[in-house]
Amino acid sequence: MQLNDFKKHARSDEIGTRYMWGFTHLTQTQITELADYFSSQSAMKAEADQPDLRGELIFREGLPQAGVPQCSACHGADGRGNGQIPKVAGQHARYMVHQIKVLQQTEQRPRNAPMKQLPRHSLSDADAESVSRYMATLGAKE
Ligand code: HEC
Repeated sequence: MQLNDFKKHARSDEIGTRYMWGFTHLTQTQITELADYFSSQSAMKAEADQPDLRGELIFREGLPQAGVPQCSACHGADGRGNGQIPKVAGQHARYMVHQIKVLQQTEQRPRNAPMKQLPRHSLSDADAESVSRYMATLGAKE
């Protein structure tokens, strides 16, 4: 899905544009082959195993008072995602902080509808960093 979005220039976030804009020539077969190749690689190992309790709370329970849903409801208790929902376990925290803002606050990623539900002002920058740090540590013991 993401390769198709890059190919069509539908994903226009800054990093997507800077590095992926040129891939308009990929054929559907090549996209399928690349997706098969990437998905058959071993998952990334977590960056660090420093517990972030606030991040864990947000991931597992959300912030009901602020209307922030539990991330685990979609991304899975272990952060592995599924066919339509990306794996967040072990991804780089900095990348995830950036993508949360892109998905929540802009139209630069076209499949942002589920993440737009995160109310714009209720997941503070500090909380986005906390939950990203926590997600980066998921899977450390795999
Ligand atoms: C209703 C389902 C849903 C909930 C709840 C949800 N997400 Fe997501 N999230 C998605 C989907 C779907 C995408 C992929 C969007 C796309 O394809 O561009 C996504 C994408 C992401 C990404 C980008 C991953 C990447 O590889 O680029 C991050 C990071 C993320 N979510 C973090 C969170 C956090 C943190 C929470 C909780 C505060 C959360 N999500 C709650 C459905 C959800």
